[in-house]
Amino acid sequence: MMGIIGGTGVYQIVEMGELKEKKVLNTPFGESPPVSILKFEDQEVAFLPRHREGHDNPPHMINYRANIYALKMLGAERIIATNAVGSLDESIKPGDFLIPDDFLDFTRKRPFTFYDDRAVHVDVTQPYCPQMAETIISAGRGVDGRLVKGGVYVCTEGPRFETPAEIRMFHQMGGTVVGMTGLPEAVLARELEMCYASICMISNFAASVSTEKITIDEVFEILDEKKKELTRLIYNSIIS
Ligand code: HPA
Repeated sequence: MMGIIGGTGVYQIVEMGELKEKKVLNTPFGESPPVSILKFEDQEVAFLPRHREGHDNPPHMINYRANIYALKMLGAERIIATNAVGSLDESIKPGDFLIPDDFLDFTRKRPFTFYDDRAVHVDVTQPYCPQMAETIISAGRGVDGRLVKGGVYVCTEGPRFETPAEIRMFHQMGGTVVGMTGLPEAVLARELEMCYASICMISNFAASVSTEKITIDEVFEILDEKKKELTRLIYNSIIS
């Protein structure tokens, strides 16, 4: 089974499949949001809205462990996640998509492992699943819009956006895009041996990359414009 973790504004993927059931899972880490079990052609898909429906749960308060554990309980072997991001690179613009191949973790206070009671050290030499990334890139050939292959995802704690100095630092460190939801999700999926890839949607230039102030309305506006393409990209990735 494929798991989809839908970020901000990505709820209409549910409408593209045949809904079998919707359920809340009781995990050792608490309840999951309602997960929709869908059929896309002959593929079973579990769709989990990261922020719960209605977007009332900010990035630093998401129960990432419950979300990942719930998908594992459902038998998901692979996960495609979507993440809204700001771009650190002038050539990667709002409206583009990017499939990251590495990350920098600047989160601070999130429960970030399933293993507090024993020493488990997962390997993250390849933090995102290269096969799934390839599948998404291929699926993207049939979709409008630019899809950038590879890049470094920087995850901040939020909920505030970044300062210009932080963005300069991230850029010097090799960061390509910045968001608030990609971690610890990617690592938790690895801890449970699930193949995980992310589709990042660039909604804005990060602070000081452009002179404009960043507003959440701007983020929502771009995501709204791009959600048809994103849904198509996910659909094509699932059925391929
Ligand atoms: N910074 C952090 N998270 C984000 C941004 C940003 O500029 N845009 C969308 N999510």
